[in-house]
Amino acid sequence: MEIPFSESYKAKMVEPIRRSTREEREAWIKEAKYNLFNLRSEQVFIDLLTDSGTGAMSDRQWSAMMLGDESYAGASSYFKLKETIYSLLGFEHFLPTHQGRAAENVLFSTLVKEGNVVPGNSHFDTTKGHIEFRKATALDCTIDEAFDTQHEHPFKGNVDPIKLENALKQYSDRIPFIIITITNNTAGGQPVSLQNLREVRQLANKYGKMVVFDSARFAENAYFIKMREKGYADKSIKAIVKEMFANADAMTMSAKKDAIVNMGGFIAMRSKELFQQASVYNIMFEGFVTYGGMSGRDMNALAAGLDEGTEFDYLDTRIKQVAYLGNRLDEFGIPYQKPSGGHAIFVDATKVLHRIPREEFTAQTLGVELYLEAGIRGVEIGAMMADRDPITRENRYPKLEMVRLAIPRRVYSNNHMDVVAVALKNVWDRRDTITRGLKITYEAPIMRHFTVEMERA
Ligand code: F0G
Repeated sequence: MEIPFSESYKAKMVEPIRRSTREEREAWIKEAKYNLFNLRSEQVFIDLLTDSGTGAMSDRQWSAMMLGDESYAGASSYFKLKETIYSLLGFEHFLPTHQGRAAENVLFSTLVKEGNVVPGNSHFDTTKGHIEFRKATALDCTIDEAFDTQHEHPFKGNVDPIKLENALKQYSDRIPFIIITITNNTAGGQPVSLQNLREVRQLANKYGKMVVFDSARFAENAYFIKMREKGYADKSIKAIVKEMFANADAMTMSAKKDAIVNMGGFIAMRSKELFQQASVYNIMFEGFVTYGGMSGRDMNALAAGLDEGTEFDYLDTRIKQVAYLGNRLDEFGIPYQKPSGGHAIFVDATKVLHRIPREEFTAQTLGVELYLEAGIRGVEIGAMMADRDPITRENRYPKLEMVRLAIPRRVYSNNHMDVVAVALKNVWDRRDTITRGLKITYEAPIMRHFTVEMERA
């Protein structure tokens, strides 16, 4: 008999979690104004709100923390991280920041001006927020296949080279750089192929533009390249990572994802001039160039995490767990963005709650239903997150309306995935009876989904 697949790690420390009753959850979600961000974590049984900063660090990372150098300037922890970034990603210069959006803030303060257009593949909400906050436009050039959840495509995160070239022609001087998000979070944790990264590089060269990678889940992207792209099956993840980043001039990183730390981020670049310009903002917003918002121990754990996060066995365990949940949903016929992504399953909310109009926030309503069913917390990736148009102030309705079930790294077992799948099946089975959505009673002017307040429509 073939020995079955199993996780490439075991637990050394645990955290108890508690089930609640439906009555408790009814009261809690009402009190939270139907915003899942407003729940206390004790009110959640299985927390799939995000895979960001929620992973379990390894014994090696914890021991690296003990060796953190907390010197204000020139800490050994800084140099350790600098060497790791250089050897793994190939960038000579780097600036630590406290997390990914801080990296965006510093880099975009340097590069983005009013009236600019920044093309890319489904910019993440903070990325788009930092662009729009500077009165510039984030232009989505993702391939059309990404917007049909039932269409199987190995690299649904790809940029459409025709859309990109049209943008480069149309907006020419208004484009400061192209940003490629690997993996493409908003489209479902979907990877970008190396061939596509090379095509983007060639177009950037042709039009004299910089390419920036938003790299939060770059290792998961490399795993998909190894498994799906011709010619990469025998290459190591680290070799693929090198080849990916050879196509970028700079990167922003939320280390809370693929570097498996609870807090941290950085910017890295080839140009010394860009490094010097960005350093000014880093010192103002984050901290001195050798710590920028992170303690020495955090930089040590991050350096170890970058190395572990690009090991095949770890990635194989991780991504197979996401696929496991996807396969369970397939058994029940529940529609989600296919194929399953690197960090999450994205349930196609409009196909589940078909009686809730998008004006009543279909995916938000599904997220609330799943919470009520079994205390599972996902997150809306749909009209709420898409915000209003900055100029017309009308609600924006993106092509996809989804509930993301993001799986924290090395935290839950497949038994937890079974609970999630069955809870979702129960909601799916009573979908025809769910007819009331939600309406907004308070919203912030930008990135409203974090603090929005709602009531039953
Ligand atoms: N870029 C991508 C692709 C992201 O997914 C995120 C965060 C960021 C940038 C910003 O990084 O949170 O460290 O400031 N994504 C989290 C999520 C919040 O749940 O997907 P951050």
